[in-house]
Amino acid sequence: MNRCGGRSSRAGRTDLARTSARRSPAPQGKRPAGSSRPKRAAIEGLLAQLKPSLAIEIGTAEGGSLECIAAYSGHVHTLDLAPGVTDAPANVTLHVGDSKEVLPRLLRELEQDGQNVDFVLVDGAHEAEGVERDVRSLLASNAVSRTVIVLHDTANEAVR
Ligand SMILES: C[S@@+](CC[C@H](N)C(=O)[O-])C[C@H]1O[C@@H](n2cnc3c(N)ncnc32)[C@H](O)[C@@H]1O
Repeated sequence: MNRCGGRSSRAGRTDLARTSARRSPAPQGKRPAGSSRPKRAAIEGLLAQLKPSLAIEIGTAEGGSLECIAAYSGHVHTLDLAPGVTDAPANVTLHVGDSKEVLPRLLRELEQDGQNVDFVLVDGAHEAEGVERDVRSLLASNAVSRTVIVLHDTANEAVR
């Protein structure tokens, strides 16, 4: 069932080739930001159960968690100030800009369309003020009423 990288089967590799976001190369010797194996495993466990129709990711970076979210979701909206993804899977909409403005706008549109967001990964701004702002935007929206919201880096003092 592993669709989020690190797979061992040939079928899994084929699946990844079909669904993965193409990323800008990471600097020599560096892993893409935020794409640790435990993080992917935790997200994958959740997504495999949830199978979201609609998902939002705040903080695209180089597409590490996006690859995973897109593999399990009907559609994903992903937001970043400057995403490192150049060619996302067909079920992904890339939004470029500050989540301060982009997220409330996106949520308004989804709300107007009567859509519910099933899954959100909050992994953009990594200071308390920005995280709180994103969470408040989510909780204020009628599009976020039956939703699993995952906050990354909550053990990191600066983010709380
Ligand atoms: C930790 S990385 C995301 C990692 C990614 N989710 C993954 O697991 O592969 C955080 C990203 O959030 C973006 N970011 C930071 N502040 C933001 C903001 N206010 N609005 C949108 N994106 C932001 C950064 O540009 C960065 O690419």
